[in-house]
Amino acid sequence: MIDQNAQKKLAGEYAVRYVKDDMVVGVGTGSTVKYFIDKLAEIKHKIRGAVSSSSQTTNLLKQYGIAVLDLNSAGPLDIYIDGADEINHSLEMIKGGGAALTQEKIIAASSRKFICIADESKYVMKLGNFPLPVEVIPLARSYVAREMVKLGGAPNWREEVITDNGNYILDVHNLDILEPIALEEKINNIVGVVTNGLFAKRGADELVLAKRDGSLDVLR
Ligand code: 5RP
Repeated sequence: MIDQNAQKKLAGEYAVRYVKDDMVVGVGTGSTVKYFIDKLAEIKHKIRGAVSSSSQTTNLLKQYGIAVLDLNSAGPLDIYIDGADEINHSLEMIKGGGAALTQEKIIAASSRKFICIADESKYVMKLGNFPLPVEVIPLARSYVAREMVKLGGAPNWREEVITDNGNYILDVHNLDILEPIALEEKINNIVGVVTNGLFAKRGADELVLAKRDGSLDVLR
């Protein structure tokens, strides 16, 4: 048996095999991604660079001397590697635990292939046990919170966090996520919402799932 951190390392390091010569790699955010970046650094001379999803990831990439490129000039990308807070059997996800959901969703949309790297605890039958992060324009915080209550959710303002875009995060508990794509679209249509953490319309293409028994599955 291996612990959650060891599972994250296993999945993160495995994902480096998706990186081919001369690629520009989209890089997500979080502790699983950190293990991917540690390994990516070993082959940094083979790639053109990376597009980063957060200031946290940018700092890490720069520490390793990996070139950080602008998506506007580097995209579309061949590949995007990122973790998830939850992922279901259809490879739909909840993301945004690290508050980087908006950039993550933009890079995912601009990439041909999204590889999700995760430990076994993230693999769920139904999304929604993890509270859904919603990035909101500061002025809209209370309005969006009331709209979330109308959808059956219990929003909680992540008060200590300002996103890289200068916005707030609401963590919405208790949502009954029966149709992830429909809910993703509905929440995105609320004025003042920048992005919500449902990654269903553009889910992952592959899941690298590290398991407690030390084995690894690749699901498509
Ligand atoms: C950041 C994310 C992360 O992918 C998610 O929170 C998983 O993080 P970790 O790998 O640390 O468990 O969506 O916004």
